[in-house]
Amino acid sequence: MNKQEQLQKLNDEMAYSCTCELKKTATNVVPGQGSADADILLIGEAPGKNEDLQGKPFIGAAGKFLEEMLGSIGLSREDVYITNTVKYRPPKNRDPLPEEVVACWPWLSAQVELIDPKLIVLLGRHAMNRFVPGKKISEDHGKVFVHTVDGLGTRDFFVLYHPAAALYQGSLRKTLIKDFQKIPKIVEKIKKRKKK
Ligand code: URA
Repeated sequence: MNKQEQLQKLNDEMAYSCTCELKKTATNVVPGQGSADADILLIGEAPGKNEDLQGKPFIGAAGKFLEEMLGSIGLSREDVYITNTVKYRPPKNRDPLPEEVVACWPWLSAQVELIDPKLIVLLGRHAMNRFVPGKKISEDHGKVFVHTVDGLGTRDFFVLYHPAAALYQGSLRKTLIKDFQKIPKIVEKIKKRKKK
């Protein structure tokens, strides 16, 4: 089984066994999308309405913006892997509850382990809080944190504003676009470091 097939199998098994309460109200599960061999794993908050209907992450307005930013650094959705802290839409797009994030954690953590990306891009404060707690997005966006996470070892995390939060806010939007441009150099630097 190649890595992509292994990831598909993992997502199928987790969709079956996940104990998240959000499963009861969601239309579809949104496991994630992209390459199992990706250098970059992007993690958002939770699926919204469009994502819930189509079973794919980031396909609404925020997703289009994310795709544009990926395009600006020469990447497409297929070159990265995109997922969320929870795999089911919270009713009325409310924030995911801590227990929902906990319930979906074995799934997210297994995705990180299997994909084993060079860089994990945390989109917004929910994803940030799960992996690098104690940070403030207004101060820590655009920064890399090398952080040890239980069960996942020491990894490189890059904090960004959430595309949905920045989409319609001129200054945040500019900041996010600018921060996003840093990604290729960060990945190159990590690759060089890991070769040593
Ligand atoms: N916002 C997210 O955080 N994730 C999605 O998949 C869509 C919108």
